[in-house]
Amino acid sequence: MNNRTHMCGEVTAEAAGQSVILKGWVQRARNLGGIVFVWLRDRTGIVQVVFDGNDISKELLELAESLRSEYVIEVHGQARMRAPEAVNKKLKTGEVEVVAESAIILNPSKTPPIYIEDDTKEQESLRLKYRYLDLRRPSMQNMLLFRHKVIKLLRDYMDEQGFIEVETPILSKSTPEGARDYLVPARVKPGTFYALPQSPQIYKQLLMLAGLDKYYQVARCFRDEDGRADRQPEFTQFDMEMSFIDPEDIQTVVEGAYAHVFKTLLNIELTLPLRRITWRDAMARYGSDKPDTRFGMEIQDVGEVVAGCGFKVFEEALAAGNTVCAICAQDAGHMSRKELDALGEFVKTYHVRGLAWAVVNEDGTLRSSFAKAMQGDSMQRLLDAVSAKPGDAVFVIADKKYVALTAMGQLRLRLGKQLNLIDNKRYDLLWVTEFPLLEWSDEENRFLAMHHPFTNVMEEDIPLMDTDPGAVRAKAYDLVMNGVEMGSGSIRIHQSDVQEKMFSLLGFTKEQAWEQFGFLLGAFQYGTPPHGGFAFGIDRMVMILSGAESLRDVLAFPKIQNGACPMMDTPSAVQPEQLEQLKIRCVE
Ligand code: AMO
Repeated sequence: MNNRTHMCGEVTAEAAGQSVILKGWVQRARNLGGIVFVWLRDRTGIVQVVFDGNDISKELLELAESLRSEYVIEVHGQARMRAPEAVNKKLKTGEVEVVAESAIILNPSKTPPIYIEDDTKEQESLRLKYRYLDLRRPSMQNMLLFRHKVIKLLRDYMDEQGFIEVETPILSKSTPEGARDYLVPARVKPGTFYALPQSPQIYKQLLMLAGLDKYYQVARCFRDEDGRADRQPEFTQFDMEMSFIDPEDIQTVVEGAYAHVFKTLLNIELTLPLRRITWRDAMARYGSDKPDTRFGMEIQDVGEVVAGCGFKVFEEALAAGNTVCAICAQDAGHMSRKELDALGEFVKTYHVRGLAWAVVNEDGTLRSSFAKAMQGDSMQRLLDAVSAKPGDAVFVIADKKYVALTAMGQLRLRLGKQLNLIDNKRYDLLWVTEFPLLEWSDEENRFLAMHHPFTNVMEEDIPLMDTDPGAVRAKAYDLVMNGVEMGSGSIRIHQSDVQEKMFSLLGFTKEQAWEQFGFLLGAFQYGTPPHGGFAFGIDRMVMILSGAESLRDVLAFPKIQNGACPMMDTPSAVQPEQLEQLKIRCVE
């Protein structure tokens, strides 16, 4: 039996006068000659242990003098109040100390390659190589605890709402989430492969068919795509599905779950129902399907205002049916030519040809890249349209509609950060609804499903599937917080004629559709309840709620940029016999 009486962080004033047995890691040991002060650490905090040569045996003092950082020890002693002048306000246990009576070294430690403290700036690569040491840092332990609480609260909430958690296979078949699959060769049938699930999408739909009615799962998902701060190849979804519902039913459950987490962990009361904005509006006003609504600076369509303005770039764009859009950055007029040019280069990376800018000087005169070409009062009309005042900067982009809006959306975000417009303490949650069903891929010269091929169509748009597929809206919705896509879901197609039409729009023949999704299409012939669902990224939720910058900071063992784990050195080569069993030969 573990004879530990207290965790280190629990040895507070209440423990004074008690005999204690503690176990933990040596944070640091200070030898003042005949007296050794040891800071002992465990998950709950740090407590000071005193080895006083005047009161203890020579052996115990020698043991204390041999202690080094990260040794694991057991200490028996008496907790006592410190003298008032010795109180350490920085420690939760700072009013007390433990007078050691005996101690055992349970395990020594080599000198750790990284400091196990919160405010040291170790290189991330080193931290990840020695992640097990990095995780000893209090902030990392708090993060793991926070993550645990988020998941527990979500589980509790779903259980209360009558949802059943069902685990679905990891050795699975390719699912249509749109990323590259991780494949696992099947030894028993050489040349065939399992795919690791990109999400439990198909299984959860089958569970609805099976009559589960309300399902959820904390589900590991795998996508072979390039890493980003908010993207990991292996991540966790909070996945759910319900039968006989409308989008509002699902959204209500998701909102309730979020509100429960916000209230319990952050003591923040979310105002429900959350705001909703259609995809079209989000694109038009923020140039993004995951708008950061913590600041304004909304995009305006200035096509009508600049019609006939004389500036060729705008006029040609309008003649080609393109968009001319603008934002007004308040008080950004101090920007130098160099800074303005840098913004021009920045937007070009989003495939627009350029950025037109105009600064209204404090005296009302203009600095501008295009004012000279604007005839008559057209420049003034443009400035009026975006309400530009002295000291403001106006930016205009003319290009194909969504190319222009997307680039402008990115410029808006960059300016929002640069001009310090974002309130980092704010959590702005909203639903983006009515996503397009399809998006055109120039690369593949065909439509792709914007969510996935089982996403249902808004009833009033069904006729458009034949006449104008690009304009069809889906019963699909995303939850967005602070400009990050937190989750996404949809009502699924349960009518076989709509499903067939969808596949044909995606360029599948009936045979191809059956080959890939036959098990699902076949299953749908046996009484499919109307159903829909949602999945949110737990990692992203924990990242934003804990104020972390990257998903790497909220996963115990994350991958780095190229999908590698520096600690385990994965991916790695395997034994030739293993490949032989799988009948796999690697070509250079
Ligand atoms: P989707 O692909 O949008 O939907 O994923 C749902 C949510 O999961 C999170 N997410 C990620 N988090 C970290 N790293 C990644 N690589 C990553 N990819 C996605 C995001 C995202 O919003 N089956 C559908 C859901 C449904 O329709 O029910 C799906 O997987 O927060």
